[in-house]
Amino acid sequence: MPILDIKGISKIYGSVKALHNVDLAVEQGEWLAIMGPSGSGKTTMMNIIGCMDKPTEGKVILDGVDIAAESARNLTAVRREKIGLIFQQFHLINYLTALENVMVAQYYHSMPDEKEALQALDRVGLSNRAKHLPSQLSGGEQQRVCIARALINYPMLVLADEPTGNLDEANEGIVLDIFKQLHREGSTVIVVTHDPEVAQEAQRTVVLEHGRIARIIANGGPGQTNASRLEDGAPDSQSRQAAERSKE
Ligand SMILES: Nc1ncnc2c1ncn2[C@@H]1O[C@H](COP(=O)(O)OP(=O)(O)OP(=O)(O)O)[C@@H](O)[C@H]1O
Ligand SMILES: [Mg+2]
Repeated sequence: MPILDIKGISKIYGSVKALHNVDLAVEQGEWLAIMGPSGSGKTTMMNIIGCMDKPTEGKVILDGVDIAAESARNLTAVRREKIGLIFQQFHLINYLTALENVMVAQYYHSMPDEKEALQALDRVGLSNRAKHLPSQLSGGEQQRVCIARALINYPMLVLADEPTGNLDEANEGIVLDIFKQLHREGSTVIVVTHDPEVAQEAQRTVVLEHGRIARIIANGGPGQTNASRLEDGAPDSQSRQAAERSKE
């Protein structure tokens, strides 16, 4: 059973149809990239998966529960228990330090634990900035605090909307390594990106255009097994054989 099963979702904002009848199933432990032009519906889809918004039509079955039909209160609980959100509009709290910002997420989920929060900052390379306020951090550092905050509760589903959009190459590498580690540890990861290098790491890339899935590309990211690599190779060897036969 897929961990996430999107069935016929549409999202209509007044006269704008941001999503049209989208179907998508994501298996547990999969790493999926979502790409597409500006305005194609990527953030709209992530907001719906992340329990931040509801579709106008359709079902979104997350871990066996139709989140499109849940109350706002239950959605908040689902988000806290199961999802790590790395969204650009999710700002840090200005008057709390980096460490306290991470601990707030622990507080909402379970119990704040300073040592664990420091470890999370260490994972994103920021243990030496723990006592800094957001205004004393660079944009990339703030983004990494957001990532530490999203990961502190070991979410089963990690949703990231352009997580490397504001980062330089070194920080992009750090963030990608974190996603690779999460994926290895078994999290399901969905990343919206404009960067083909980031998408390359995923197992599949869903391309949205005008609110519809235009195509799905199998990438052969890190979770791809040898068996599926061989399967991917099969059409090549078949076409080679066909070419050889045609020479005879
Ligand atoms: N709250 C809203 N009210 C009205 N229209 C909206 C709203 N949110 C999004 N839209 C429209 O829905 C469409 C899809 O927007 P969305 O933010 O999902 O695009 P996107 O693919 O994430 O684009 P980008 O790459 O620029 O972030 C756009 O045409 C946008 O103008
Ligand atoms: Mg967007």
